[in-house]
Amino acid sequence: MSRLVMVSNRVALPREHRAGGLALAMKCALQESGGLWFGWNGKVVARSGADLHVERQGGITYATLGLDRRDHAEYYAGFANRTLWPLFHFRPSLVDFTRATWAAYERVNALFADHLVQLVEPGDMVWIHDYHLMPLGAALRQRGVRARLGFYLHTPFPPPDLLTMLPVHRELFEALTAYDLVGFQVESYVRAFREYVMGEIGGEVNESGMISVHGGRRSFRVGAFPVGIDVEAVAREAAARAAPPRGPDAPRSVIGVDRLDYSKGLPERFLAFGHLLRTWPEQRRQVDLLQIAPPSREDVSDYRRLRRQLEQMAGAINGEFGEPDWVPIRYVNRGYPQPELCGLYRGAAVGLVTPHRDGMNLVAKEYVASQDPADPGVLVLSRFAGAARNMPGALLVNPNDVEGMAESLRAALQMPLPERQSRWHSMMAAMREDDVTAWWRRFVAALEGGGGAGTALAA
Ligand code: G6P
Repeated sequence: MSRLVMVSNRVALPREHRAGGLALAMKCALQESGGLWFGWNGKVVARSGADLHVERQGGITYATLGLDRRDHAEYYAGFANRTLWPLFHFRPSLVDFTRATWAAYERVNALFADHLVQLVEPGDMVWIHDYHLMPLGAALRQRGVRARLGFYLHTPFPPPDLLTMLPVHRELFEALTAYDLVGFQVESYVRAFREYVMGEIGGEVNESGMISVHGGRRSFRVGAFPVGIDVEAVAREAAARAAPPRGPDAPRSVIGVDRLDYSKGLPERFLAFGHLLRTWPEQRRQVDLLQIAPPSREDVSDYRRLRRQLEQMAGAINGEFGEPDWVPIRYVNRGYPQPELCGLYRGAAVGLVTPHRDGMNLVAKEYVASQDPADPGVLVLSRFAGAARNMPGALLVNPNDVEGMAESLRAALQMPLPERQSRWHSMMAAMREDDVTAWWRRFVAALEGGGGAGTALAA
């Protein structure tokens, strides 16, 4: 296999605990395959890229650089997270577009390309990740890179009617045609992309399932590669970390773990939990909600507003229902190392994952893999998470339906053991099929040109 060069805006440096599925999946892949990981080191520095730093740890070479204040504001907090993130998560009313942030996005992609050309060797395979770096492949080609180039989007990909609201949609999405392979989490995102390329760029799907553009002069593959977790490793961590029982009278826990992001449906989740306590008073004292929500992207005002809203809501619900010896919502704004989370998942009777939109959502998978096979908890999952496509045993909910979520929560808390076990087994089987190793191997095989066993190539 060729050397793998992975590129993402955010690099999870050794010893860092990063919330978010991208860092987790990429780290697992690189730990198995070895290779180079290039991207932003998370720091704001005097001059973008001047501090390029290369270090090697555990078979992975990390090459990272800082961004200056302007690039951080206009590229990261600007076009990436104030324009593309809300657009890809079906929130057009939050999209903020300016020419200046678009220029910054192109500028930082060009800067990444300038540094990368010096690190890429002949025969490497370059795999670029996520919405921050869509034009990077084209920028590398312009600089003479001839390696195989793959792109993978970790977020949802909405239908063309939404995409075309972006004034620069054509420039942005046409850049994706520079890759040899473009991957998405699930089939519906692949369909949306194909529809966009047909309708807006005049591409065609040819007999072998490839997309060709520019009158057939350029063709590339597209496919769904659902990202997974290391199921056995999570199960092992969870068993080793299982928290001691909290005593026979302690309330059972519902757990949520999410970056503090408006796509995650947190206010509606709190409302649903409040509705459960209001409608079924016998649930009071019997259950609590542990919501872990590490703050995220606080330079963007929508995130700061959400943080204030959630503080207010948790306070209101605790004030209304709490007792001196029982707190309904335990709300924590801190990130925890993954092994510790696995222990908390195992101790919770219900995993509550209710995003309005989510590319995949690996918390859903980690919750299930952490359960005790003899007494597994129940996953309550939004139908709008990519994970919902292949979690057959989850109770699916619509995060816009607060009462419906409360009912599902109650059903989960009352579910008899045999049903919990059969649901859990079906999800474990599906997750083992689509684990993190299968994810990266299928993508790499398809990028190498073999098509990749079981890969869903566009047809
Ligand atoms: C999501 C995105 C990733 C991102 C992560 C954390 O998972 O798909 O690209 O790295 O969130 O967000 P941050 O802005 O802190 O990198």
